[in-house]
Amino acid sequence: MVKILGVSGSLREASHNRRLLEVAATELPPEVSFEIYSGLGDIPPYREEEEGGSTPESVGALRDALNAADAVLLATPEYNGSIPGLLKNALDWASRPFPDNSLSNKPVAVIGASTGLFGAVWAQADLRKVLSTIGATVVDAELPVGQAHDAFADDGRLADPDLHKALADIVRQLVEAANAA
Ligand code: FNR
Repeated sequence: MVKILGVSGSLREASHNRRLLEVAATELPPEVSFEIYSGLGDIPPYREEEEGGSTPESVGALRDALNAADAVLLATPEYNGSIPGLLKNALDWASRPFPDNSLSNKPVAVIGASTGLFGAVWAQADLRKVLSTIGATVVDAELPVGQAHDAFADDGRLADPDLHKALADIVRQLVEAANAA
């Protein structure tokens, strides 16, 4: 069975990005399993001396979860025009040892929600760049969910049908990439 790991770049209890991952999951075919990674808040600041024997347990758990996944779906907010620090920090840990890390050649897709008008497009572009640098196989698409406080409908879909279609298309591309990998 194909396994997809969802990662939200926000720790906020009522995170729009976490909700976006939940909406994305409704578009997955039944033969695909989906789990949202919940350990991001436990990851300490990156410190190169801790590589090797003394790697923190939470970092090992992150790398294990990425290794076990066939593909990764990342939903990011935008903080000050870019990726939230905690997400970049976790990816810095995930990138080591380089180049044979837990994301190398792993299919990943990036989506994002923000309360601003532009739907975290800068954060998504920066995140795709970081993931490519790490060696992941990045789906060439973005999902700008702006004004996120009004973007979700009660039926569990995105209120804008075109945006929901775009989300379903990204999910389809990610599953295809996972099946091809
Ligand atoms: C923001 N927000 C924000 N939004 C945006 O579109 N562009 C930005 O540069 C920023 N910058 C920013 C910095 C910081 C420190 C915070 C806390 C927030 C607003 C942000 O998009 C909004 O809080 C989202 O709702 C955060 O995502 P979650 O927590 O709902 O997933």
